Amino acid sequence: MKVVFLGPPGAGKGTQAQRMAKRFAVSHASTGDIFRRAMAQGLRLGLEVADYLDNGKLVPDELTSRVVAEMVIESVEDYILDGYPRTIQQARDLERMLLERGEALDGVLFFDIPEDAIIERLTGRRICAQCGANYHIVFMPPAKSGICDRCGGELRVRSDSSEQAIGKRLAEYREKTLPLVEFYDQKNLLRRVDATAEPDEVTRRTEILLRDVLMSRQTGT
Ligand code: AP5
Repeated sequence: MKVVFLGPPGAGKGTQAQRMAKRFAVSHASTGDIFRRAMAQGLRLGLEVADYLDNGKLVPDELTSRVVAEMVIESVEDYILDGYPRTIQQARDLERMLLERGEALDGVLFFDIPEDAIIERLTGRRICAQCGANYHIVFMPPAKSGICDRCGGELRVRSDSSEQAIGKRLAEYREKTLPLVEFYDQKNLLRRVDATAEPDEVTRRTEILLRDVLMSRQTGT
């Protein structure tokens, strides 16, 4: 399976990608997670991308595509790409990388949600500092406030969750990422997920669409 999860910040791509990766036994490849991990570990990549992430700006295409090539395309067979591509240039890079290997994308799921819902989701998000598990103080709360259910780690707010950074991320999304909806629609790869429902319902819808993607691949339709 080679699938892209596309959508605005806070649409729930990461939440659903984690669940689907488990369900379909494939890798969950999130460029945002790769960059944040590199920052936390003090790697050179982390130093290169920190300013972009903290300010809600996109990391340059050339660097992002190089990281995806090394850490995903050349290393893993079946994956959900969460948050890549995010520009037309990155989509072309991905196409070229796959073509060079005689491969192709199976599908793109677009998580569709209005902006007012996004802001509520992003400001209430909490992430486990230890294992990266994702919570929301209202919609997906942990059993014990501030503590991760999975590993007991401390829950934190992500550094790009200030109102200013969210505003910039949305502006970047509208200008650079939204055109990908038409790009993939024209290639007949796009399927829309109504991402406004509660998490388990979005999971149900996502799973149905992914099964459909896999079926189309098998039947060549
Ligand atoms: P990244 O980490 O990819 O952030 P993002 O795309 O902005 O997406 P988010 O992680 O904020 O949201 P999400 O859609 O995954 O939603 P989530 O499931 O967390 O990227 C961060 C930065 O890295 C970028 O700004 C950029 O600088 C850089 N970057 C990354 N990729 C790049 C690329 N390709 N090119 C250049 N730069 C790149 O859910 C959000 C919250 O809502 C959570 O609290 C969750 O619990 C809750 N929630 C989820 N689903 C539901 C639901 N159905 N109902 C209610 N609440 C829900």
